[in-house]
This record gives sequence, C-alpha cells and structure tokens, in this order.
Amino acid sequence: MAKYALVTGGSRGIGRAVAVRLAKAGYNILINYVSRIGEAEKTMALIREAGQDGEILQFDVASAEETRKALEGWQARNPEEYIEVIVNNAGIRRDNIMALMPEDDWNRVLQVSLGGFFNVTQPLLAPMMRRKYGRIISMASVSGLMGMQGQANYSAAKAGIISASKALAKEIARKNITVNCVAPGFIKTDMTEGLDEATLCRNIPAGRFGTVEEVADVVAFLASPEASYVTGNVISINGGLYT
Ligand code: NAI
Repeated sequence: MAKYALVTGGSRGIGRAVAVRLAKAGYNILINYVSRIGEAEKTMALIREAGQDGEILQFDVASAEETRKALEGWQARNPEEYIEVIVNNAGIRRDNIMALMPEDDWNRVLQVSLGGFFNVTQPLLAPMMRRKYGRIISMASVSGLMGMQGQANYSAAKAGIISASKALAKEIARKNITVNCVAPGFIKTDMTEGLDEATLCRNIPAGRFGTVEEVADVVAFLASPEASYVTGNVISINGGLYT
C-alpha cells in the first residue's frame, strides 16, 4: 500500500518544499492549491523526479464544503488508502494596523488559516484514527507566538492553530497520532517578497532569512516515525529571532 501525505497550499513556497521533501521520505503527495495550476503542476513534476506519485486537488481551504467534497472524492477513488500525514500549510496575510483593518481582512485571514486547519483536518480524523497512525503538522508562525504589530489577524490565526493543535494532540495521542506545529520566522518566499530584508536581518541573530528547505526538513522530522513521542508542540525555525 502506498503512503499518502496531503500538503495544503502545496503549489509554491514552503508548501512545495515540504511536498518534495516528503516525497523523498517515501510519500505519495496530494497537492492542494487554490489558483495557480501551473505552479501545482511544477510541484508534481518535482515529486515524480523524487520517485513518487500523487494527485493535484484544487480547493479553497476556507470553504468547508469544497474541502470536504475534494477529500471525500479522493477517498472514494482510493478506498484502500488513507491520508497518513496532513500538512496544513495554506495561509495568507493581509497586514494592517488594527485601527485601520477592514473587517474583511480580519475575517479572510482567520477563515483561510484557522478555518482551513479545521476544514481540512476534521474530515480526515476518522480514517486516521481507524488506522491508528498519523501525523498532523501545521504552519504556525513567530507572529502567532509573540504577536506582531500590523498582523493582529495573522497573529490571532496562527495562535489559534497552535492552541487547537495542542487540544487535538491530547484528544488523539492514544491513537498514535501526533499533532504539532512549526513556527517559521522570516523565510524567503512570495509571502515575504517586498519586505525590507536588510533592516529585518539586523534583528535576526543568524543574520539572514531562512530557506524553504530549512522549514521542510523540520516538517519531515515531525512527519517521521522517529518523532513518535513529540506531540502538542511547536518547533520554531527562526534563526534565533524569538526564543
Ligand atoms: P506563499 O504565499 O508562497 O504560499 C502560500 C500557499 O498557500 C500558496 O500555495 C497558496 O496557493 C496557498 N493558499 C492561500 N490561500 C489558500 C486557500 N484559501 N486554499 C488553499 N490554498 C491556499 O507563502 P509561504 O511563505 O510559502 O507560506 C506558507 C505557510 O507558512 C503559510 O501558512 C504562512 O503563513 C506560513 N509562514 C510563512 C512565513 C514566511 O516567512 N514565508 C513565516 C511564518 C509562517
């Protein structure tokens, strides 16, 4: 039987690196994306180069209905399989100081990041619990740990993911399922494009932004059988920015 990992927002950035890294660890990958099919196809090509297979699943993680339909569709086509590793990576930011933040920017960031965590994870729990093995890893952020000005919405969503993961970890630890988060600092991707890197680096002890591969390696550890006694935790990947 093949082993399957789902990576939301797997078409580019950190998600793509995680998808490729998990393929190298022997997983077939389900790549979720929302809008850029070309990028999702590039990720799939890299997965095939790594010797694995997979499928591209288009859905908006903010929509419970779309997400459930896509995941149920995959399960119906693959009745013998189950998704063993979930990587909740999809996320957006709509930064603004709270005094000027439109309601829509508050809601959308919460719906994609925190809503997405629920919408994706909830339907996959029952099959995972039946098989008594699983790994759930979610992308938090340094912003969710320390709170960052201009990111009240994003900090709230990421802090919510951390607490929800801790609660879920307790609920399903006896089923051999671990639930953890990683909290990246500043990583070079589209999301951090346009930030003033030189100024920000002055506050990062390592003196540089991180790479997507550095995040993917930590996710791969948490996804591995070796991480079996690590649950309800957050691993920071931030070059010493916040400890
Ligand atoms: P990115 O902007 O390059 O990629 C985000 C991914 O999420 C894309 O594949 C996008 O299609 C997907 N996505 C967005 N909305 C979606 C939706 N509604 N449904 C499905 N997919 C959706 O961002 P990056 O940097 O790769 O970020 C990945 C994750 O890591 C995000 O959750 C982000 O908050 C988190 N993170 C990133 C940091 C950074 O410095 N780049 C730092 C800390 C956390």
